[in-house]
Amino acid sequence: MTKVNCLNPISNLGLDRLNDNYEMTEDFAEADVALVRSASMHDMDLPDSLMAVARAGAGVNNIPLDKCAEKGVVVFNTPGANANGVKELVLCGMLLASRDIIGGNQWVADNKADENINKTMEKAKKNFAGNELKGKKLGVIGLGAIGRLVANIGVSMGMEVYGTDPYLSVEGALSIKRTVHIVKTREEIFKECDFITVHTPLVDDTKEMINKDTMAMMKDGVVILNFARDLLVCDDDMAEALKSGKVKKYVTDFPNAKTANMEGVIATPHLGASTEESEDNCAIMAVDQIMDFVENGNIVNSVNYPAATLGVCDKAGRVTICHKNEPSMISQLTSAVASEGVNVADMVDKSRGDFAYAIMDLDHETSEALVEKLNAVDGVIKVRVVK
Ligand code: MLT
Repeated sequence: MTKVNCLNPISNLGLDRLNDNYEMTEDFAEADVALVRSASMHDMDLPDSLMAVARAGAGVNNIPLDKCAEKGVVVFNTPGANANGVKELVLCGMLLASRDIIGGNQWVADNKADENINKTMEKAKKNFAGNELKGKKLGVIGLGAIGRLVANIGVSMGMEVYGTDPYLSVEGALSIKRTVHIVKTREEIFKECDFITVHTPLVDDTKEMINKDTMAMMKDGVVILNFARDLLVCDDDMAEALKSGKVKKYVTDFPNAKTANMEGVIATPHLGASTEESEDNCAIMAVDQIMDFVENGNIVNSVNYPAATLGVCDKAGRVTICHKNEPSMISQLTSAVASEGVNVADMVDKSRGDFAYAIMDLDHETSEALVEKLNAVDGVIKVRVVK
């Protein structure tokens, strides 16, 4: 029985896919797998039983990826599953920054007792006039699943769209409308665009990428949108830029004590993926990936181990090995199998940074003696018998 612990509420559409071989536990300390949304795992002790964590969402800055990898805990995320929800809120953010919908709505609330509101509004409305998106330049930094959808919706709105991403895949590039200008550097976007939206993970290279130096390159009155993570923007520099009018509006889904109090900020409380559809999609994808891992040892969409799959096992045995990415590991693993007189029927071994993962299909059931021999190989982190 595989014990599943949810660190945050996860949609039942996902949880209902777990069959009788799984049971829910309230206790993380006895979990075999954990499902998480935004709960921070950085200070949590990882139990020895834990083999996988699935993040129902894209961002994984709440999970200690290296600590997990070192313990042979494979961390998954669900790229793309909530991308449409986030894209729609980014579009909403652009519209809120262009038209004073918030001010106009407040005016109606403040004047709801006025019996002639249908007439007085005609005078008041000049205070809430704005601009259209059509014809404006939109810059998208990060062309992952969300950034690509944002770029394409920008084109549909009649905007001239620029995008940049050093890791853009061929498949990703093919899904972007051909009128999007793909540029090599963020600087080109900083200099060119009226709206700049960030869709990158939070890593050393992207931390505070929107700061006084990069904002100095931008057009006066630029709108900046952040539906990714708050630390991508330097708050103190943003305060200055809003005060001087360099930045017209900062639209953020990640307010904090500073930005929530800044004039010129339009903030929502991390609502990008908070749609029924996105929550269902993320839960389904997270659970499916976990079940494929538990039942077959396959890894799809991990963020700390490489992708590695051998499909469903039709051989007598299957064993998986989390190991360090070091020379001669494969020969040592196959020698250990050979020394037990077992034939390797199929095998995959993939690496990612300091870590690697092997799946071996065997012509015999996996014996305890073989597991012991594999565990004894220097550099092996975790051996798991799938069959
Ligand atoms: C994400 O990174 O995909 C979002 O933060 C998801 C969420 O709201 O949990």
